[in-house]
Amino acid sequence: MISTEVLSPTPENIRRAAETLRSGGLVAFPTETVYGLGANALDETAVGRIFAAKGRPAADPLIVHLSRADGLAEVTRAVPPLALRLAEAFWPGPLTLILPKSPAIPALVTSGLETVAVRVPNHPLALALLEAAGLPVAAPSANRFGRTSPTTAQHVWQDLHGRIDLILDGGPAPIGVESTVLDVTASPPRILRPGGLTREMLEAVIGPVEVVRQKRTPEAGLPSPGLLEKHYAPQAEMILFTGPGARQALTAFLHEQRAAGRRVGVLATDAEAAAAEQAGAVVFRLGEALPSIARRIYAGMRWLDSQGVELILCRDFGEDGLGLAVHDRLTRAATRILHAP
Ligand code: TXA
Ligand code: MG
Repeated sequence: MISTEVLSPTPENIRRAAETLRSGGLVAFPTETVYGLGANALDETAVGRIFAAKGRPAADPLIVHLSRADGLAEVTRAVPPLALRLAEAFWPGPLTLILPKSPAIPALVTSGLETVAVRVPNHPLALALLEAAGLPVAAPSANRFGRTSPTTAQHVWQDLHGRIDLILDGGPAPIGVESTVLDVTASPPRILRPGGLTREMLEAVIGPVEVVRQKRTPEAGLPSPGLLEKHYAPQAEMILFTGPGARQALTAFLHEQRAAGRRVGVLATDAEAAAAEQAGAVVFRLGEALPSIARRIYAGMRWLDSQGVELILCRDFGEDGLGLAVHDRLTRAATRILHAP
């Protein structure tokens, strides 16, 4: 056990956090997507501490965070013109680029791959920390492996206190789902993980991209080793309802489960919340539009877990815009997917 301090984002505390990174420690910090757990990306021992703190398998590579695109020269071997266009258009922002790795990056960061994942986050506190540290910072989401990503400092504390040095508290993360991971070493570029930057926005700048459909079961040779079954998951069993009849099917299922005496949680839009409450569910309100749903989805899973529900029900919100990232996370969090035509 080490003692974990939660710090408010004062200039003095940012300096302290930067110093902790420089001396090989672990600092959790907010980004615009989710909270990250950072360590000096050039220090193999420090990076090893990330894997230990999270309980993360070494086969799951990390994202390297930079304060500016010109830091690419240090961490990559070659940057194709397409990547420069994307960096120009979307950094700082929720886009992670897969690029050929520089020898300066230890193999542990990339799980032995010849490529490295890189992004410049769009959060003032993250940028101030990266700038003050003067280092590339390897940072996965700051949760225990397999759990949902943290969108508040409290979530980080729940998962990692006693295992990391510092948590910088910058309030709730504004986007709420992780960055879009784009492999620009492939042609056409491939979205390995849909995220906070939409496919539509990417395609408006670089034309068609391929979306790699996530597999439900782990198998050898996955394009992105983070794509395992049951990931980003709450502790309760979770059922996802898809298809045009999803809302009705969810309601019918809720009544059935309540009649059987089960304690059921529902992730509902504001418009759907009252009906679910009347049916006796513990309801977490997601708001109405996709940006709000994305921002609140992980917090909702954590909150329903804290309410001791046995079962969490949620419907799908489509695959347009941020819907694709939400769909991906719900699919991975679900223990069952029920399709209602
Ligand atoms: O928004 C985010 O991306 C957050 C914040 C903290 O920046 N970070 C994050 O990191 O979600 P993590 O480690 O939870 O997810 C990184 C994803 C994993 O799916 C991993 O497999 C993939 O990026 N990845 C990393 N390096 C890769 C590589 N060289 N090739 C393919 N996929 C890679
Ligand atoms: Mg993660």
